[in-house]
Amino acid sequence: MVKGHAEVTTEALLEVGDRTGNTSYAPARMVIERGEGMYLFDRDGNRYLDFMAGIAVNCLGHCHPRLVEAIESQARRVMQISNVFYSDVQIRLQEQLSALSFADRMFLCSSGAEANEAAMKLARRYQRVIKADEGRTEIITFKKSFHGRTLAAITATGQPKYHKGFEPLVPGFRYATYGDLASVEALIGPQTVAVMVEPIQGEGGVKPSPEGFLQGLRQLCDAHGALLIFDEVQCGVGRTGSLFAYEHFGVVPDIMSLAKGLGGGVPIGAMLSTAEVFQGFVRGSHASTFGGNPVMCAAASVVLEEVSKPELLANVTDVGQYLQDGLRKLGEGSPVAFKEVRGVGLMVGVEVGPEFAGEVVKAARKRGLIINTAGGHTLRFVPPLVVTRQHVDDALEILGAALAEVGAGQG
Ligand SMILES: Cc1ncc(COP(=O)(O)O)c(C=O)c1O
Repeated sequence: MVKGHAEVTTEALLEVGDRTGNTSYAPARMVIERGEGMYLFDRDGNRYLDFMAGIAVNCLGHCHPRLVEAIESQARRVMQISNVFYSDVQIRLQEQLSALSFADRMFLCSSGAEANEAAMKLARRYQRVIKADEGRTEIITFKKSFHGRTLAAITATGQPKYHKGFEPLVPGFRYATYGDLASVEALIGPQTVAVMVEPIQGEGGVKPSPEGFLQGLRQLCDAHGALLIFDEVQCGVGRTGSLFAYEHFGVVPDIMSLAKGLGGGVPIGAMLSTAEVFQGFVRGSHASTFGGNPVMCAAASVVLEEVSKPELLANVTDVGQYLQDGLRKLGEGSPVAFKEVRGVGLMVGVEVGPEFAGEVVKAARKRGLIINTAGGHTLRFVPPLVVTRQHVDDALEILGAALAEVGAGQG
């Protein structure tokens, strides 16, 4: 029997969480009770500066008043109606997303994996049914990519550790090397359905695509009749300083997936495409009970309104550069060597190596700064897009102390 939480210790609560929950992650030994702006608070009264933002999700910070208001008032009006009906808020969100992006049409869902699943299904069906090309059976993705945890999404994910034990995987995937156009050229051909790529690899270690790479992919796809899919689940919705990463890189895909930041903290994903490609889906091709959920749509509408403001996007570019500059400076005197500081906008990574990354994350958290690792070797900084230079100063001070502790432990 679960007791009232106020009556039990944090340790006891954690024990229940571990005994009844998912084991894929090793949750930190604290229990979060609330958030406000750039900060999270645990049940033991500790405050944390949040540079992880639910892994690149809470783009407006925690409990942004406009977002809370939109969710509350929509919950009072209607929460769920299924795709059998339209809601006013779903139509409004679709209108907004198509006005703000290259895309004409979209499928709304609840997560990044689902958005990618829909992207891969649409690409296959477009080639097979609309182009009547049954010979196109392969999707090219990249080593060290991450596209989610459904069976097709883990197959698309070019990291064997996510495949292990789940075989047989979905047929029809080939893996090229990120940043290496020749490796794509070697795989692409009349059998290719699509190339799917993260404009900035997130889970692989915060790796921006090198100059000209996405342009090259666009050319190769056009030359071979393949579709280009951008997975913007992590790098989309303002994180690069442009509303969408494809704008930052100046290359327009045929299909784009979004999630994470789109809801600002609630679960919503979207798979968007041109009208031409969307012909691949007809009535009955694809659906989801919660797709277009009114509460999620109301939230995403507010997020898009706020994030598309030029002053907010300018803040991402300014504070993102300030963060990278500050990290480089910190790296000069750091007892834990910085192999590289890299990133775009407010998606920044510091490669310190697998032997240090996890330790630095823990030491920072102990001092009130939340970050996490990407690729096991890189510290990842994906704060809310409303972060200020002052927050960066505070974060760097804590990080400096954390590095000193970890460095001393190695000495
Ligand atoms: C680039 C990318 N694609 C897809 C996903 C999967 O999204 P979700 O966890 O919402 O299914 C992630 C999650 O980290 C991601 O970073």
